[in-house]
Amino acid sequence: MPGIDLSVTVKGLTFRNPITVASGTFGTTGEYSDFVDYEKLGAIITKTVTVKPRAGNPMPRIFETTGGMLNAIGLQNKGIEDFIEHKIPYFAKIKTPLIANIAGENEGDFSLLTRMLHKHKNVVKAIELNLSCPNVEKGGTHGMKKKARMKDAVRAARQETDLPLFAKLSPELGDVLEIAGDVLEAGADGLSLINTLKGMAIDIEKRRSRLANITGGLSGPAIKPIALRYVYEVKKNYKVPVIAAGGIMTASDALEFIIAGADMVAVGTANFVNPRATLDILEGLRAYGVRHRLARIADLRGSFSHL
Ligand SMILES: Cc1cc2nc3c(=O)[nH]c(=O)nc-3n(C[C@H](O)[C@H](O)[C@H](O)COP(=O)(O)O)c2cc1C
Repeated sequence: MPGIDLSVTVKGLTFRNPITVASGTFGTTGEYSDFVDYEKLGAIITKTVTVKPRAGNPMPRIFETTGGMLNAIGLQNKGIEDFIEHKIPYFAKIKTPLIANIAGENEGDFSLLTRMLHKHKNVVKAIELNLSCPNVEKGGTHGMKKKARMKDAVRAARQETDLPLFAKLSPELGDVLEIAGDVLEAGADGLSLINTLKGMAIDIEKRRSRLANITGGLSGPAIKPIALRYVYEVKKNYKVPVIAAGGIMTASDALEFIIAGADMVAVGTANFVNPRATLDILEGLRAYGVRHRLARIADLRGSFSHL
């Protein structure tokens, strides 16, 4: 029996399967290549790129919690010029669509970043707008919390490209359903749900925060039910492509999101626990397809039914 057809088409762009990686959890270029054949993935989403290089937050900036982790990396990256000079040529050799994740302080940044990336359409196949990083107090996406500014950022990016644009949201921003409507109206083609949720942890012996930044973004299995709920509710209300993220550690987690309506599933924190997680999940999807005699993953998407 032929295996399940895992391909996904989103806004005219075809991915060989729905498995991708969540921004910031898969290195910047070849860090995972000893474990994962990148050409087996559906897409690769980059770490957030900003206009200028960013040093990120002081250390410690990662702490493992029950069912997840807190991070306060603070969008450390070498900036767009380095991205174009060093990262794009690396991904140009890999036959997997690249989704560039960007963040800015204002709409001017979003417009500049999008304009620069649009020139590399042969490699960059879509753009994810990070409107939601909880770890950046100033000079980052914090300012994007204002609804109007989020819309302006999307509009600015839209004016610069016809590449698919995904707006990445977090419940930290406010009412996700309402914001989803706003950013779609402003020109986003799809949504990425969800970014981390702000949390903290304390070392009781030292009576100090576990993170130098005090708070950080919570990710991993602890946030999965929340992410699943948002994917389900958003897909119920808007017929747009969704890239789901939030505690996807196994094939069953990925399947829950697909059944709830996700088009693509992004593996994040799982990469730190098991660097082969993406490919293990892919194998699990294939096995499920055989076990349930599914011809196409598309038949599963949004197939959720009420009890
Ligand atoms: C260490 C770390 C760094 C991250 N960096 C980014 C980033 O640069 N940009 C972004 O949009 N999301 C970033 N995220 C959020 C993830 O892309 C993802 O939305 C979130 O972690 C939920 O998925 P998960 O529970 O599978 O990790 C980061 C997450 C972690 C754990």
